[in-house]
Amino acid sequence: MPENYFRRLEKSELLRAGRPLEVDLGCGDGRFLQEMAAHYPERDFLGVERLLGRVRKVCKRLSKLGLENARVLRLESRYTAEWLLPRESVSRLHLLCPDPWPKLRHHRRRLIQKEFLQAVWDLLEPGGEFLFKTDHPEYFAWAEEKVADFGKFERLEWQEGAFFYPKTDFQLLWESQGKALQGLRLRK
Ligand SMILES: C[S@@+](CC[C@H](N)C(=O)[O-])C[C@H]1O[C@@H](n2cnc3c(N)ncnc32)[C@H](O)[C@@H]1O
Repeated sequence: MPENYFRRLEKSELLRAGRPLEVDLGCGDGRFLQEMAAHYPERDFLGVERLLGRVRKVCKRLSKLGLENARVLRLESRYTAEWLLPRESVSRLHLLCPDPWPKLRHHRRRLIQKEFLQAVWDLLEPGGEFLFKTDHPEYFAWAEEKVADFGKFERLEWQEGAFFYPKTDFQLLWESQGKALQGLRLRK
């Protein structure tokens, strides 16, 4: 729990020496966070989630499994990215199956916007990556367009199975309904 939510954290408050930090925005029920933490004991993980029930559930499971390299912050994703996390502190930032806000009048609630991309750019280390997945083709096209307009990221290939990347709860749900996911992998 940060001592103060109204100032940016110092790297020393968040990072452990020699251990890259990965952040999962909107971690939900935490399957991805848990599997990543178990697979990469030499890295640290921070899930960000606004729903208290989900945060409690994930924390309980992480402590039961003894995964001390993963933590969860109960906070709003955009605020966390823009105002709380230290600059150049994150090695990979994951945004997986976020709410697509399909109605036109709700598009402004979508996380991927110019200001958010700037915040992601600022918090990534040089060479750090932003990974995004969605089942929603129109949100994917929106994200591609916003990323192209932003213009700073290098887009990398992302073949299924190219590296360890567990499926999230929502990915499994969408796939069980026959939906396909699309992914963007961007490097700073
Ligand atoms: C559709 S679910 C996806 C969960 C998980 N990433 C997955 O793929 O299984 C979206 C999650 O993000 C959380 N969420 C949505 N908007 C958020 C925000 N602005 N800040 C923090 N959490 C948010 C929701 O409570 C929910 O748990």
